[in-house]
Amino acid sequence: MPNLKFTIVNLVVCLLATTYAVSSTWGNISNSAQLLHAEQVFNASSPEKYVTHEIKYPKNGIGNGRIITGIRAFDQVTNGTGGHATIYSGGPGFNFVNIKLQSQYNYGLIFRVEIYGK
Ligand SMILES: *[C@@H]1O[C@H](CO)[C@@H](O)[C@H](O)[C@H]1NC(C)=O
Ligand SMILES: *[C@@H]1O[C@H](CO)[C@@H](O)[C@H](O)[C@H]1NC(C)=O
Ligand SMILES: *[C@@H]1O[C@H](CO)[C@@H](O)[C@H](O)[C@H]1NC(C)=O
Repeated sequence: MPNLKFTIVNLVVCLLATTYAVSSTWGNISNSAQLLHAEQVFNASSPEKYVTHEIKYPKNGIGNGRIITGIRAFDQVTNGTGGHATIYSGGPGFNFVNIKLQSQYNYGLIFRVEIYGK
Protein backbone atom coordinates (compact mmCIF):
# COMPACT_ATOMS: atom_id res chain seq x y z
CA MET A 1 0.00 0.00 0.00
CA PRO A 2 2.20 2.85 -1.24
CA ASN A 3 -0.36 5.50 -0.24
CA LEU A 4 -0.25 4.51 3.39
CA LYS A 5 3.54 4.62 3.38
CA PHE A 6 3.46 8.10 1.85
CA THR A 7 1.00 9.25 4.50
CA ILE A 8 3.17 7.94 7.30
CA VAL A 9 6.27 9.65 5.90
CA ASN A 10 4.30 12.90 5.65
CA LEU A 11 3.09 12.54 9.19
CA VAL A 12 6.62 12.04 10.51
CA VAL A 13 7.86 15.06 8.53
CA CYS A 14 5.00 17.13 9.98
CA LEU A 15 5.80 16.05 13.54
CA LEU A 16 9.48 16.89 13.07
CA ALA A 17 8.58 20.26 11.59
CA THR A 18 6.30 20.98 14.55
CA THR A 19 9.01 20.00 16.98
CA TYR A 20 11.43 22.43 15.41
CA ALA A 21 9.31 25.54 15.09
CA VAL A 22 9.08 26.07 18.77
CA SER A 23 7.99 29.05 20.78
CA SER A 24 8.65 28.60 24.47
CA THR A 25 7.48 30.19 27.70
CA TRP A 26 9.18 29.77 31.05
CA GLY A 27 7.79 30.91 34.39
CA ASN A 28 4.74 33.15 34.67
CA ILE A 29 3.98 36.31 32.76
CA SER A 30 1.26 38.15 34.65
CA ASN A 31 -0.47 41.33 33.50
CA SER A 32 1.50 43.33 36.05
CA ALA A 33 4.88 41.96 34.98
CA GLN A 34 7.24 44.52 33.54
CA LEU A 35 9.06 43.97 30.30
CA LEU A 36 12.71 44.09 31.34
CA HIS A 37 14.20 43.33 27.98
CA ALA A 38 13.06 42.52 24.45
CA GLU A 39 15.26 41.44 21.63
CA GLN A 40 14.59 40.71 18.01
CA VAL A 41 16.96 38.10 16.61
CA PHE A 42 17.49 37.69 12.94
CA ASN A 43 20.28 35.46 11.75
CA ALA A 44 20.42 34.42 8.14
CA SER A 45 20.83 30.78 7.28
CA SER A 46 24.28 29.47 6.65
CA PRO A 47 24.77 26.54 4.24
CA GLU A 48 25.50 23.25 5.99
CA LYS A 49 25.50 24.85 9.42
CA TYR A 50 23.41 25.21 12.53
CA VAL A 51 23.15 28.89 13.35
CA THR A 52 23.23 29.67 17.05
CA HIS A 53 22.63 32.92 18.86
CA GLU A 54 23.14 33.57 22.53
CA ILE A 55 21.11 36.06 24.54
CA LYS A 56 22.48 37.31 27.82
CA TYR A 57 20.43 39.38 30.21
CA PRO A 58 21.64 41.67 31.58
CA LYS A 59 24.16 42.34 28.84
CA ASN A 60 27.12 42.85 31.16
CA GLY A 61 26.33 39.67 33.12
CA ILE A 62 25.88 41.65 36.33
CA GLY A 63 22.52 41.22 38.02
CA ASN A 64 20.62 44.50 38.38
CA GLY A 65 18.40 43.49 41.28
CA ARG A 66 15.36 42.77 39.12
CA ILE A 67 14.10 39.23 39.50
CA ILE A 68 12.99 37.55 36.32
CA THR A 69 9.51 36.06 36.57
CA GLY A 70 8.88 34.92 33.03
CA ILE A 71 10.48 34.57 29.61
CA ARG A 72 8.97 34.11 26.19
CA ALA A 73 10.77 33.14 23.03
CA PHE A 74 8.58 33.47 19.93
CA ASP A 75 9.74 31.60 16.91
CA GLN A 76 8.59 33.78 14.03
CA VAL A 77 9.24 31.20 11.35
CA THR A 78 5.96 29.38 10.81
CA ASN A 79 6.78 27.13 7.88
CA GLY A 80 8.58 24.42 9.81
CA THR A 81 12.14 25.70 9.28
CA GLY A 82 12.38 27.54 12.61
CA GLY A 83 14.68 26.82 15.53
CA HIS A 84 14.34 26.30 19.24
CA ALA A 85 15.33 28.05 22.45
CA THR A 86 17.00 26.65 25.55
CA ILE A 87 17.77 28.32 28.87
CA TYR A 88 21.13 27.11 30.06
CA SER A 89 21.57 29.28 33.12
CA GLY A 90 19.47 31.57 35.26
CA GLY A 91 15.86 32.22 34.27
CA PRO A 92 12.68 32.73 36.31
CA GLY A 93 13.58 33.27 39.98
CA PHE A 94 17.04 34.62 39.10
CA ASN A 95 18.25 38.09 38.15
CA PHE A 96 19.98 36.91 35.01
CA VAL A 97 19.46 34.48 32.16
CA ASN A 98 21.46 32.97 29.34
CA ILE A 99 19.39 31.69 26.46
CA LYS A 100 20.63 29.83 23.44
CA LEU A 101 18.74 29.88 20.17
CA GLN A 102 19.61 27.19 17.70
CA SER A 103 18.45 26.82 14.12
CA GLN A 104 17.89 23.67 12.15
CA TYR A 105 20.64 22.48 9.85
CA ASN A 106 20.84 24.80 6.80
CA TYR A 107 18.31 27.29 8.19
CA GLY A 108 18.39 30.63 9.97
CA LEU A 109 16.78 32.11 13.05
CA ILE A 110 14.01 34.67 13.48
CA PHE A 111 13.00 35.05 17.11
CA ARG A 112 11.56 37.65 19.42
CA VAL A 113 12.63 37.11 23.00
CA GLU A 114 10.90 38.91 25.88
CA ILE A 115 12.08 38.87 29.48
CA TYR A 116 9.61 39.92 32.20
CA GLY A 117 10.21 40.67 35.83
CA LYS A 118 9.17 42.60 38.86
C1 LIG B 1 3.41 30.61 38.50
O1 LIG B 1 2.10 30.79 39.02
C2 LIG B 1 1.62 29.64 39.67
C3 LIG B 1 0.17 29.91 40.06
O2 LIG B 1 -0.02 31.22 40.50
C4 LIG B 1 2.51 29.32 40.89
O3 LIG B 1 2.04 28.15 41.52
C5 LIG B 1 3.92 29.11 40.40
O4 LIG B 1 4.79 28.91 41.50
C6 LIG B 1 4.41 30.29 39.60
N1 LIG B 1 5.74 30.01 39.03
C7 LIG B 1 6.72 30.90 39.02
C8 LIG B 1 8.00 30.47 38.38
O5 LIG B 1 6.60 32.02 39.51
C1 LIG C 1 23.59 36.87 14.26
O1 LIG C 1 23.23 38.25 14.03
C2 LIG C 1 23.88 39.14 14.93
C3 LIG C 1 23.31 40.53 14.70
O2 LIG C 1 23.18 40.83 13.35
C4 LIG C 1 25.39 39.08 14.73
O3 LIG C 1 26.04 39.95 15.62
C5 LIG C 1 25.84 37.66 14.99
O4 LIG C 1 27.22 37.54 14.74
C6 LIG C 1 25.08 36.67 14.13
N1 LIG C 1 25.46 35.33 14.53
C7 LIG C 1 25.68 34.37 13.66
C8 LIG C 1 26.04 33.04 14.23
O5 LIG C 1 25.58 34.55 12.44
C1 LIG D 1 10.37 29.78 5.64
O1 LIG D 1 10.18 31.05 6.21
C2 LIG D 1 11.37 31.81 6.29
C3 LIG D 1 11.08 33.08 7.09
O2 LIG D 1 9.78 33.51 6.95
C4 LIG D 1 11.88 32.11 4.89
O3 LIG D 1 13.07 32.86 4.96
C5 LIG D 1 12.17 30.78 4.21
O4 LIG D 1 12.57 31.00 2.88
C6 LIG D 1 10.95 29.88 4.22
N1 LIG D 1 11.35 28.56 3.74
C7 LIG D 1 10.56 27.79 3.00
C8 LIG D 1 11.10 26.46 2.63
O5 LIG D 1 9.44 28.17 2.64
